[in-house]
Amino acid sequence: MAVSHSPPASLKPHLKLSPIPAVVRGNPSKALPYPFRPALSPRLVVPCSSATSSPSVDPGPASSVAAAVSSSKHRRHTDENIREEACRQQNTTSHNLGLSARYIPFPRGFSSESDEYYSLDEVVYRSRSGGLLDVQHDMAALKKFDGAYWKALFDSRVGRTTWPYGSGVWSKKEWVLPEIDPEHIVSLFEGNSNLFWAERFGNEYVSGMNDLWVKHCGISHTGSFKDLGMTVLVSQVNRLIRLGRPIVGVGCASTGDTSAALSAYCAAASIPAFVFLPADRISIAQLVQPIANGAYVLSLDTDFDGCMRLIREVTSELPIYLANSLNSLRLEGQKTAAIEILQQFDWEVPDWLIVPGGNLGNIYAFYKGFEMCRELGLVDRIPRLVCAQAANANPLYLHYKAGWADFKAVNASTTFASAIQIGDPVSIDRAVYALQNSNGIVEEATEEELMDAMAKADLTGMFACPHTGVALSALIKLRERGIIGKTDRTVVVSTAHGLKFAQSKVAYHSKEIADMTCRFANPPVKVKADYGSVMDVLKNVLKNKILPVKNVV
Ligand SMILES: Cc1ncc(COP(=O)(O)O)c(C=O)c1O
Repeated sequence: MAVSHSPPASLKPHLKLSPIPAVVRGNPSKALPYPFRPALSPRLVVPCSSATSSPSVDPGPASSVAAAVSSSKHRRHTDENIREEACRQQNTTSHNLGLSARYIPFPRGFSSESDEYYSLDEVVYRSRSGGLLDVQHDMAALKKFDGAYWKALFDSRVGRTTWPYGSGVWSKKEWVLPEIDPEHIVSLFEGNSNLFWAERFGNEYVSGMNDLWVKHCGISHTGSFKDLGMTVLVSQVNRLIRLGRPIVGVGCASTGDTSAALSAYCAAASIPAFVFLPADRISIAQLVQPIANGAYVLSLDTDFDGCMRLIREVTSELPIYLANSLNSLRLEGQKTAAIEILQQFDWEVPDWLIVPGGNLGNIYAFYKGFEMCRELGLVDRIPRLVCAQAANANPLYLHYKAGWADFKAVNASTTFASAIQIGDPVSIDRAVYALQNSNGIVEEATEEELMDAMAKADLTGMFACPHTGVALSALIKLRERGIIGKTDRTVVVSTAHGLKFAQSKVAYHSKEIADMTCRFANPPVKVKADYGSVMDVLKNVLKNKILPVKNVV
């Protein structure tokens, strides 16, 4: 792939660049315009192991596009893999877009200046005052490219296998971790999940909604949206280890999905994972995932909040990197789901987005993804956000109902939506910020409501998890109250794969749940294994549906 090493003289970084028509229209041999900064910041230079002396810098949009849309013929040296290929291309097409990101105390806006900030290469989770951190991108540098440029770039990478852009997260690398070397990225090609048109669910259960969509973030490597964030966090840890930082492993407290994702990504990168799980409070599928991936699993006789307290104490003593969503790196990956939704709608903005919330990082991640697209000119508005909580673990809902006055943690009771059974959410401030800035709403769902909504979704061809049931139940309520309109384009975020929650589905369909009618239960029918018995059952079921068979003479 021929990519010019020096920029056309007419192109300066401050210019708004047009999209990348030459490449998108299939003219990969034409040199791409890109902004150019000759000097590299020493802090950022991490040589690829396969390189000899050339500095490695982020390949940036131009070469990324070139790589992503290059000709279909085999481009790799026979003795290299796709990671090494990315590294070689980066070293031969080196240029720096001047993109960067750093930690700042939350909230301070995406572009404001302050004296407190940290390199992403530092191990830091909290601000000086003990508050949350946020990853702040250099928006001025990103704005050197116009919205059309970014749209064309991101669109050009969809469906490819080029490392690392084949991932739905890393296809937005410039907006995620712009400075990381592709060689250090730990990716399982996550993201690019199905945006499913919920035709029958909308028609039958939400009074004829015809523009209802479910973003299936749970149809993913480890079966939940957590993969989106974990690829970013583990990649950054991998980079730090390669830089010689004394990190012995990565740890998290989990309600099941975070530990599964952490274990898988750590296993892929050969980094030890330590997971703290509340004993008997997660599904068998979620428990077996970290076990199978070789993590050190500590099953603790406490709830999630207790596990969280312990992991924080442990990681402040031992060189174990903390992977919980307190760590703002993960949200950088999760926010790409918002960008992906816009992309899947051909950059049209939906009216509503409904997300189930527990520790409340994900609602903010969606806000941040949408807001970056707005600020960088890809779209002109953002959707209204709805955070849906289980009534048994509803501190955000109560806070919203109290007019955002005096947040109080609650003791979360047991809920089938076990991954959001959290009474003291770490990201409460992030969630409030996201909702206040998106004209957002908080809704809740009782156990019966969420299980019924999940069962209804399944009856229309989905295989939803209980958390998705919470979000669908919120949709039904908001539609019934006329807050969400019949023709409003609405996206419900499905956060995990239903197969992880088979136990609760079996309990529902067996009508084994105390104080629950299980109205949509569909239990199996026990039948004697002979032809007559089977025919009797089927004729009974089909009695109004089959016409009497006429004898043909
Ligand atoms: C399946 C599922 N849904 C929803 C959530 C809630 O996400 P957040 O904690 O970011 O609010 C989680 C988090 O653990 C989850 O695993």
